[in-house]
Amino acid sequence: MSDLQDRMKQAVAEAATEQIRSGMVVGLGSGSTAALMIQALGAKLKRGELTDITGVTTSFQGEVLAAELGIPLKSLNAIERIDLAIDGADEVDPAFQLIKGGGACHVQEKLVARRAERFVVVVDATKLVDTLNLGFLLPVEVLPGAWRQVQAELQALGGEAQLRMAVRKAGPVVTDQGNLVLDVRFAGGITDPAGLEQEINNLPGVLENGLFVGITDQVLVGEIAGDQPRVR
Ligand code: 5RP
Repeated sequence: MSDLQDRMKQAVAEAATEQIRSGMVVGLGSGSTAALMIQALGAKLKRGELTDITGVTTSFQGEVLAAELGIPLKSLNAIERIDLAIDGADEVDPAFQLIKGGGACHVQEKLVARRAERFVVVVDATKLVDTLNLGFLLPVEVLPGAWRQVQAELQALGGEAQLRMAVRKAGPVVTDQGNLVLDVRFAGGITDPAGLEQEINNLPGVLENGLFVGITDQVLVGEIAGDQPRVR
């Protein structure tokens, strides 16, 4: 990641924490931008600028980070509501439709986003696209025993799916739920995200895919103007 991208991510992560108020239950996303947001939230709690915050994490990685920072956490089953969820994304189109799941966390991320009163997405300007999936592959979480079958079914839908492998191909990536991830490319990009989201989730063996449609309330974008980061 470039230094410029780091600065955009830092700026947008800090801007998002301005929306957090004392007493809120906050959904804490996953990935590097969300991690910066969690760090900024932890710092605000430490300085006493916020009190009585409950976090609901979307990954084991986020849970470890939030716990280290002293952010009180509860599980999705233990809370009555989520006031605000803040998360990153891999691609964002002009209608605020997203591809997520670059960190293989999209099952929990979608649960938390769906539950939240307000879902705010934090991205740097490199994530903005006109059409989804021309760049980033669409993650689909599948039961381990079903990956070949789902791969074939995705092919029938026009998608080329590959099993996500760990670095140096040491083995497949395993999600926090113990499942596998197929990364899928649809030739020409995804033209009907809402329809495809449902179609893929209807395939037996699929837990969830990384299309987030009709769920995002606001997208905060970190960019560089001149040589200074700013947020729009
Ligand atoms: C994880 C995600 C992340 O939010 C997404 O991959 C963006 O990550 P980053 O902020 O590191 O670019 O969906 O499953």
